[in-house]
Amino acid sequence: MEYFDSIVLAQFQLTEDIFVLTVERKGAPAAAGQFFMLKCWDRELTLMRPISIFEAEEDTLSFMYRVVGEGTRKLAELKAGDTISLLGALGTGYPIGEMHGKVALVGGGLGIPPLCQTAKELTQHGVQVDAYIGFRDQLFAVEDFEPHCQSIFISTETGSEGYKGFITDLLKPEQYDAVFTCGPEVMMRKVAALCAEKQTACWCSMEHRMACGIGACLGCSIRTTEGMKRVCKDGPVFPSKIIF
Ligand SMILES: Cc1cc2nc3c(=O)[nH]c(=O)nc-3n(C[C@H](O)[C@H](O)[C@H](O)COP(=O)(O)OP(=O)(O)OC[C@H]3O[C@@H](n4cnc5c(N)ncnc54)[C@H](O)[C@@H]3O)c2cc1C
Ligand code: FES
Repeated sequence: MEYFDSIVLAQFQLTEDIFVLTVERKGAPAAAGQFFMLKCWDRELTLMRPISIFEAEEDTLSFMYRVVGEGTRKLAELKAGDTISLLGALGTGYPIGEMHGKVALVGGGLGIPPLCQTAKELTQHGVQVDAYIGFRDQLFAVEDFEPHCQSIFISTETGSEGYKGFITDLLKPEQYDAVFTCGPEVMMRKVAALCAEKQTACWCSMEHRMACGIGACLGCSIRTTEGMKRVCKDGPVFPSKIIF
């Protein structure tokens, strides 16, 4: 884990409020499910903002994010050639090395981007991957999953594309050796319950507002069956059985 300045290589606007930012990796470590703290401001805002790894290539890191407030609005203003500060990679990601057989990835909304790097690393590890990705209406990132997945299941709440309803309606955990999930808590809770019913191992990626991002301030602590855990350091990925 390291603090470093990097250069913005590209910024793409995918939808009205979703962007992909690509920066020089500068040798930073990066594993599926981990995140970086990002900052492109001096004094206007104090805290860096946590964003998950969407894609880690040999020389580049990409982040897919939704503009929701002041920090992400400033990130969206960055252009190729601008400087950005990063801290990372941070946290404990998905247990890729422990996996075998077939794994289902279940993502919703802005929980979908981190699962893309996860699909890539699982495939490199020799695991078969199916992706279940749920959107409200407009699709994004689907083509990024295609090279790494055997099957991709899509749902929209409006029915504009794919299955109309929630992505959890399509998941059959008994078909998999493990399930990884990332997205709204209500969705992950449902995934965890389906997995518990079928005794399929499940890991979920938790989100919490963060200050230091490195386990020092305890501001992101959550209650688990194994005591208090820091989302930024002990997580963000946890076995769902200790969370839900
Ligand atoms: C480990 C981790 C990984 C994340 N990865 C991604 C990602 O890949 N893509 C992405 O778009 N977002 C991701 N987020 C959420 C992202 O960090 C927040 O959206 C961002 O910090 C908001 O900053 P802001 O200054 O724009 O908004 P603020 O002005 O700080 O807040 C605006 C709104 O966003 C909400 N918000 C702020 N921080 C968070 C947070 N941590 N979680 C949920 N809601 C928050 C606030 O409640 C408020 O409604 C991640 C969060 C965590 C903890
Ligand atoms: S944000 Fe400080 S301990 Fe997690």
